[in-house]
Amino acid sequence: MTGGPGGEGVSLDTSVPHIARVYDYWLGGKDNFSADRVVAEQVIATLPEIRLSVRAQRAFLGRAVHYLAAMAGIRQFLDIGTGLPSANNTHEVAQRAAPESRVVYVDNDPIVLLHARSLLTSNPEGATAYVDADLRDLDAILARATEILDFGQPVAVMLLGVLHCIPDEDEPAALVARLMEAVPPGSYLALSHPASDVATEQMATSMRTYNDQAPIPLTARSHAEVSALFAGLDLLDPGVVQLHRWRAGTGDPGIARDLPNYGALARKPLSCGRARSGRWRRRCRRARWTG
Ligand SMILES: C[S@@+](CC[C@H](N)C(=O)[O-])C[C@H]1O[C@@H](n2cnc3c(N)ncnc32)[C@H](O)[C@@H]1O
Repeated sequence: MTGGPGGEGVSLDTSVPHIARVYDYWLGGKDNFSADRVVAEQVIATLPEIRLSVRAQRAFLGRAVHYLAAMAGIRQFLDIGTGLPSANNTHEVAQRAAPESRVVYVDNDPIVLLHARSLLTSNPEGATAYVDADLRDLDAILARATEILDFGQPVAVMLLGVLHCIPDEDEPAALVARLMEAVPPGSYLALSHPASDVATEQMATSMRTYNDQAPIPLTARSHAEVSALFAGLDLLDPGVVQLHRWRAGTGDPGIARDLPNYGALARKPLSCGRARSGRWRRRCRRARWTG
């Protein structure tokens, strides 16, 4: 099940910056073009921490996935907004801890599709698949993900550095809620999101610089707005924090410095009573009545 990894017939518009390629440049990758590099450098000029921030995001991905596979017993991952293959992709981290882990990657950028083959290198006990789809098309994503994931068993939904590509009018919170309704209790949400209320001035300038040139605008969000995305879920300690401070480990930048990037991990509650939101509680109870 793939969206044609290998990229047959894929066409790239290299004249404008794309977030997957700009992010690749900040990470030190080679899969980017002049328009990506120009805007990436302009952002670095206003927000020099951006390179540390994206590396910290990859490290957060590694810590979250390792926790899920090694400590929480999770064996299924739905990684939406995968990005270009890099060191320690989700399936590599998960399968190191639990070789039978199954991972579905989803991205809507043609350059990621071109490189999807490198994401499909599962070890034989597990499985990986790539779906070429937009996060807003959850019907398509969930339909294709069920070909490889069992939605009767817990799934870790991963939305790392992707929801800032979804403007408020496309209701990112509703997309998260719908995804978490599709997975059973005991499932997890791993999420990271650029912060609008850390290094506020620099973030506002760098966002403006990027948005003036890119076809798909980005939206940084505040701690309160990012926290609201976890409505109805139980946040694991330490809650929503700058992601380099989330269970910081070796290789992370010092936790004393600020980085404008939030991250957290949360679990879908097992019992309706523990669910915090009334809407979720009502859904949960209805699901129980209807068996
Ligand atoms: C900043 S990269 C993050 C990559 C990876 N998750 C990480 O944390 O290292 C964002 C990725 O999300 C993808 N993306 C952006 N908007 C999307 C959408 N509406 N649907 C699916 N993928 C999207 C981009 O193509 C890009 O590959």
